[in-house]
Amino acid sequence: MAAALRRVKGMVGLVTGGASGLGRATAERLVQQGASAVIVDLPTSDGPSVAKALGEQCVFAPADVTSEVDIKGVLALVREKFGRLDLAVNCAGIAVAVKTYNAKKDLPHSLEDFQRVLNVNVAGTFNVIRLSAGEMGKNDPDSDGHRGVIVNTASVAAFEGQVGQAAYSASKGGIVGMTLPIARDLAPIGIRVVTIAPGTNPSVAPVVGSPGLRGEGVQAGIEGHQRSWGGCGWGLRRTGSAGVDSVGGGSGLWAGIEGHWQGWGRAAIEGHWQSMGGIAGSHPHLTVSLPPGLFATPLLAGLPEKVQTFLARQVPFPSRLGLPGEYAHLVQCIVENPMLNGEVIRLDGAIRMQP
Ligand SMILES: NC(=O)c1ccc[n+]([C@@H]2O[C@H](COP(=O)([O-])OP(=O)(O)OC[C@H]3O[C@@H](n4cnc5c(N)ncnc54)[C@H](O)[C@@H]3O)[C@@H](O)[C@H]2O)c1
Repeated sequence: MAAALRRVKGMVGLVTGGASGLGRATAERLVQQGASAVIVDLPTSDGPSVAKALGEQCVFAPADVTSEVDIKGVLALVREKFGRLDLAVNCAGIAVAVKTYNAKKDLPHSLEDFQRVLNVNVAGTFNVIRLSAGEMGKNDPDSDGHRGVIVNTASVAAFEGQVGQAAYSASKGGIVGMTLPIARDLAPIGIRVVTIAPGTNPSVAPVVGSPGLRGEGVQAGIEGHQRSWGGCGWGLRRTGSAGVDSVGGGSGLWAGIEGHWQGWGRAAIEGHWQSMGGIAGSHPHLTVSLPPGLFATPLLAGLPEKVQTFLARQVPFPSRLGLPGEYAHLVQCIVENPMLNGEVIRLDGAIRMQP
């Protein structure tokens, strides 16, 4: 007997982190496929313009995923505008890159930073799931008993976390770990839960509010980083979203990229952590933004071609950066295949991250 495959067409989906990168590609795909999309992102994000460009089937709902009040407000807007919720895609996330303990500086990882990453990535994802489930539960079931689908975003860092990724990996491991129990919890009401783990690379962007730090700290960090990671990419995030304090200006950006290449192939690990520890220690407002990623989101797209080429070569096949549209395509496949449930799917071209 043929399975009752669901179609994305006609669905109503919310996408957290939908103003940028993987979330934005997902919102775009949903609308292109005839669904309605609610972009849930920070008020400071590009959400308004992204939603406007997608037309009437898309609205922006400014919200912080960690806030119960905000997400309840989002769901009220979804109901008012579209009358139902069928799909929730969790793409909002942040990262820091700090070693657990910097022996040279006698400096432990900031507990506040660790908790902030866990709060946004794990608690924020859970907050959206638990409240969305109540909304989806009101839907009439289809012939298979379906009422809704939830898609989360982890990272291969959940399995192969690298040096400096304790907080990020813990958060993504948390998303992986809660996938099955939540799928079991929601099975009786016909809601499926699937997590995508995109390929990862430490391209986290150190963005600092103090100009004095950019040249020295970031460059040194990049050099050290190369040593520790054996040649992975660092760059500065250009946008002001995701709670970034400020954007490293042109000089900082290019100093960073220069540093990246200068540091290429050098052979010691300490420089990175000295510099990162130095920044974090002397500047408590250090904000490091998203994400460790091998998907060509705005962050990677801003890097020089040779950096992108290097990153792409780390992927066995196809040896290139993933396209945000490929993530979005997988979201659609998950929605439309009713037997996918309680599972974590790697989307990584067979990459296995080195320490
Ligand atoms: N890009 C990659 O290669 C890659 C790889 C592995 C995992 N990931 C994961 O995929 C997700 C999306 O990554 P991306 O590359 O699209 O990042 P991105 O920075 O382009 O987009 C993330 C979005 O999340 C939003 N956001 C951050 N904190 C928020 C909060 N508290 N409430 C609401 N919105 C918030 C930001 O404003 C931003 O628009 C992240 O969870 C990331 O960890 C990405």
